[in-house]
Amino acid sequence: MKNIKKQIQDLRKKIKRHNHLYYTLNKPEISDSEYDRSAKELERLEEQYPGYMSPDSPTQKIGAPVQAGFARVRHAAPMLSLGSVSREEECVKFDRTCKKELGTEEIDYVCEPKLDGLSVELVYERGIFVRGVTRGDGFAGEEVTENLKTVKNIPQRLKGDKVPRHFSVRGEVLMHITDFQELNKKQTEAGKDAFANPRNAAAGSLRQHDPRITAERELDIYCYRILALSEEMPSTQEEMLHLISKLGLKTAPGVRHCSAIEEAVRYHHELEKKRDELDYEIDGVVVKVNSLDHQRRLGTRTANPRWALAFKFEPRKEVTRVENIVVQVGRTGVLTPVALLQPVEVGGVTVSRATLHNMDEVARLDVKIGDHVKVQRAGDVIPDITEVIADKRTGREKVFHMPGDCPSCGTPVKKEDVYYRCPAGLACPAQIKEAIAHYVSKGAVDIDGFSDKTAGQLYEEGLINRISDIYALRKEDLLKLEGWKEKKAVNLLRAIEDSKDVTLDRFIFGLGIRNVGKHIAAVLADEFGALARIIAVSMDELVAIKEIGPGTAENVVSFFAKDKNIQEIEKLVEQGVSLREKGKKGRLAGKKIVFTGSLQTMSRSEAGKLVESEGGEACSGVSETTDLVVAGEKPGSKFDTAREKSIKIISEAEFKKLLEA
Ligand code: IVH
Repeated sequence: MKNIKKQIQDLRKKIKRHNHLYYTLNKPEISDSEYDRSAKELERLEEQYPGYMSPDSPTQKIGAPVQAGFARVRHAAPMLSLGSVSREEECVKFDRTCKKELGTEEIDYVCEPKLDGLSVELVYERGIFVRGVTRGDGFAGEEVTENLKTVKNIPQRLKGDKVPRHFSVRGEVLMHITDFQELNKKQTEAGKDAFANPRNAAAGSLRQHDPRITAERELDIYCYRILALSEEMPSTQEEMLHLISKLGLKTAPGVRHCSAIEEAVRYHHELEKKRDELDYEIDGVVVKVNSLDHQRRLGTRTANPRWALAFKFEPRKEVTRVENIVVQVGRTGVLTPVALLQPVEVGGVTVSRATLHNMDEVARLDVKIGDHVKVQRAGDVIPDITEVIADKRTGREKVFHMPGDCPSCGTPVKKEDVYYRCPAGLACPAQIKEAIAHYVSKGAVDIDGFSDKTAGQLYEEGLINRISDIYALRKEDLLKLEGWKEKKAVNLLRAIEDSKDVTLDRFIFGLGIRNVGKHIAAVLADEFGALARIIAVSMDELVAIKEIGPGTAENVVSFFAKDKNIQEIEKLVEQGVSLREKGKKGRLAGKKIVFTGSLQTMSRSEAGKLVESEGGEACSGVSETTDLVVAGEKPGSKFDTAREKSIKIISEAEFKKLLEA
């Protein structure tokens, strides 16, 4: 028997290795038939000796590399966030409150670096890594197991002989600054947009649908909290960290036990000084009450534990010179003053521009061209100018004035509140360029590899003058452009082709209707289900929706009232853009149906499935947008509501006839 066990183990190891080589690294070492032979042999042995079956076996999971979408998975315990403070007094106050609450004079703390990455949950069953989930909303996140498997410091198996049956741990995934700089160099060379900071780069790398891309990125992880454990929980945070590292996972270097809050404050100062020596971003110290019993007694307040605090560092600031102030025309025509800076490194990221937001901000800062300024990057994407260093003025600085005409198209600028706007809309090149970049962007239609830079280049070279031109791009034309080779052109065209199948909400968002962000686009898609219905929607129907105010409603209606926009949408559809609408085809296409009372010949869920299979949507409540109510035996209040609203009501028999029609 021992022999069989060994045979099974060896086969599993072999198959896993080749799965990894094939799926993740794209570098197979054996032929498909050899792989198949080994896989079949393993299957046979496992069937014959079920006692040796393991959830860890590659037969239990096909190494599918591309996930269609991420599955939403609940966390073992809520993944809370932290309340944050930036001043010493606030930290001392936190200590006082904890002491009062616990009725004790002494509390010891564990202080950890606050890592600037993204939180994930790692789940191990019988010591085997089975699942990895992003933080999401704290209760559930996206499953990114295959991607996390490519992170070197996440062991596939926990260390030691006596591993817990069930173990779930929280950690922070991050990218080292040097790896980040390296990656950005590669991105830029490949004509792609650079990542704004290491955290964005880590998040972008982890949320890839193809784990091979994640595998090419250097990610690291530090763990700091056990979310669930089949065995007895340790009794302090310190022991928790020890257990985490004993099981083979990394914890952040530099954690310190502090027996009083003054020590925690001292640690904060020390770490802040050392911050620049580290090859990863930290933005503060997390102060945690050490005893888990104390933690339990203190409890949580909404999403934050009362037993922990983020004591933030001052945002990093550097001094540089404003070389010029230019105006950037955004997608909606707003003119934003932007300071062009002498490039300066702020925490690993080279900053060469900073937004000045609007003219009020220019006046508040009193910033002039030629001024020396302090720039800060507070973990955010857009760096800010925080102050002008007046002492360094020479008198040769120049005052900036907002131009009277749009710098892109020459149309006279209009002033609205503190904003200046070019009213030319899509007749303004800058706005078209932005509109194209927005349509192809990640949250919208998401054309992979179509960067802002690409949008700019294709527009400037005259290949794209409107969104629909994207779908008419030809390889020959792309190859004529500077920096375009066969592979890049083929990849872009393939990504464009792939993007044709798009969900309605993304498409609506991509159209760039003023005030219609991701959320409102999703509301519209949900509420109306089909583009044709959104195009025909009235002001009244829109304002009846809770999330939509009159301003947004007006923008939606007037967008679709413009022939030019409708023609453009028609063109997109002609070119093969296919919208995944709710209920596009079928006998109940686009219909919202509500059931009330008990049905005689089928269950509610069967009825719901029938509706969906015919392209309709089964809804739980009656609203203005309900098309039909099916009343079974003893209908409830929905029946009355439907009558009040004059919504058509039919019987179960009539409903069945409808499906046969
Ligand atoms: S503890 C209840 N510890 O900071 C536990 N969080 O601003 C709450 N973070 O969402 C988190 N380093 O993503 C904790 N050593 C650390 C951390 C840490 C970084 C992140 C975490 C959290 C965010 C809160």
